[in-house]
Amino acid sequence: MRKADADGASQYGLGLPMGARMMSGESDLHIKLEKELAAFEKKEDAILLNFGYQGMVSAIDCLVDRHDVIVYDSESHACIIDGLRMHMGKRFVFPHNDISNLEKQLERASKLVNESGGCILVITEGVFGMSGDQGKLKEIVDLKKKFQFRLFVDDAHGFGTMGKTGAGTCEEQGVMDGVDIYFGTFPKSMALIGGFIASDAQVVEFKRYNMRSQIFAKSLPMPLVIGAFKKIRTFKNKTRVKR
Ligand SMILES: Cc1ncc(COP(=O)(O)O)c(C=O)c1O
Repeated sequence: MRKADADGASQYGLGLPMGARMMSGESDLHIKLEKELAAFEKKEDAILLNFGYQGMVSAIDCLVDRHDVIVYDSESHACIIDGLRMHMGKRFVFPHNDISNLEKQLERASKLVNESGGCILVITEGVFGMSGDQGKLKEIVDLKKKFQFRLFVDDAHGFGTMGKTGAGTCEEQGVMDGVDIYFGTFPKSMALIGGFIASDAQVVEFKRYNMRSQIFAKSLPMPLVIGAFKKIRTFKNKTRVKR
């Protein structure tokens, strides 16, 4: 990783690109890395984030409006809680990994959105940082048979470590298709800074033009982009040992 960092820095400097993605912060390598991340996560598209924390806050802010309801796990990371604080609509919490309570919250939320015309966003994590246990993604995805919602998974701890190829906790639990919005970060398994969101092309396109943390802040520096390429290739080439 030190060599990838040093090669990137000697080629581009630590600062480049100097600007936000929509201004002067775009490069071919940013676009290429997003394509690679999307393919790795088996999603249509991906968007890079300059920081995981602010990326999550901003991702939640841009996904919902006051007509929508967010249902979330009680042990969600601080960045999710801060994103929720910006939400102007209702939010319902379910006790950590309590699927029968989640079902109750989804019933409440469904009644509300039927009246408001909004949608439901369920947010949980792949691997919870404090306890180390996994979110019950499979059970949550199963609830889609009964309720209409989008599932947003923060897999900061699972990306690069969980699943056969390292694609994360959704791969580990066999629910990559059922997770609508996948969020991974680079500081843990990649020893870098930054992150990404992988999802349907329509969702990612909407985020490109509506996520304030990426529109009004500097994009991911080149040494980090180069380092991320190197690490993803390592994940891809490695057949992981089944725990
Ligand atoms: C679950 C989770 N999400 C998001 C973040 C924030 O990511 P970053 O450190 O890339 O800003 C963290 C950081 O510890 C985390 O544990």
